[in-house]
Amino acid sequence: MNNQLFETADRYIDDLFSSQDDALIATEQSIEAADLQNMSVSANQGRFLYVMAKLCRAERILEIGTFCGYSTIWLAKALPTNGRVITLEADETHAAIARDNFVCSGFAPMIDMRIGNALDVLPQLVADGSGPFDMIFIDADKPPYADYFQWALKLSRPGTLIIADNVIRHLYDENTPAEKRAGVSRFNEMLAATPAVTATIIQNVGIKEPDGMAIAVVN
Ligand code: SAH
Ligand code: DHB
Ligand code: MG
Repeated sequence: MNNQLFETADRYIDDLFSSQDDALIATEQSIEAADLQNMSVSANQGRFLYVMAKLCRAERILEIGTFCGYSTIWLAKALPTNGRVITLEADETHAAIARDNFVCSGFAPMIDMRIGNALDVLPQLVADGSGPFDMIFIDADKPPYADYFQWALKLSRPGTLIIADNVIRHLYDENTPAEKRAGVSRFNEMLAATPAVTATIIQNVGIKEPDGMAIAVVN
């Protein structure tokens, strides 16, 4: 197997499931139009999150790290009509693009975006009893990943599914800043050593850099 085959297979899977709808395509176009580095999950990773949300019959989802809303829209698509995604974003520029994408997608009424540093917003969610969530997707800055995990546990119930993106790539990429690598290792080691969850990491290959997602269910 080589990267070319991984990309070809990723496109094959994407075509097979006709993964992307107009709202998702428009969201990807909004990222290109804004000339931002695309930090979204891939189409197949988005569909994976969608299947996971369906699997746990999620009605309340928390996302940490919205960017332009691509993964948020995938998660919202999995919800019943009374479902909600709360998504946290620190960057006003990203949030403004995401808001437009939520409106265009028709999912805006189901998405509650909170603008601010997630480390400030998460304690508020605990304080106002916003939990427990059925599913939590961690995908913001990497240095505080272990802290996000601790907040996620406070916002969970037995059975909550916690998924964290980008938990492999930074461990092996020589160009990754030390604080990102340290944040990811600390998170992975904490995940493995936390008896309150049953967890693993799945490797991801495809159109993006080889990476991995951590998957944990709260006991
Ligand atoms: N989940 C998105 C991608 C998120 S990229 C998707 O797959 O479509 C990571 C995002 O986290 C960026 O938009 C960045 O601005 C945001 N972010 C970084 N640090 C943050 C923080 N401390 N609190 C909240 N958001 C943060
Ligand atoms: C970056 C962040 C992500 O969450 C991702 O999936 C890809 C890239 C980044 O910060 O560059
Ligand atoms: Mg990511």
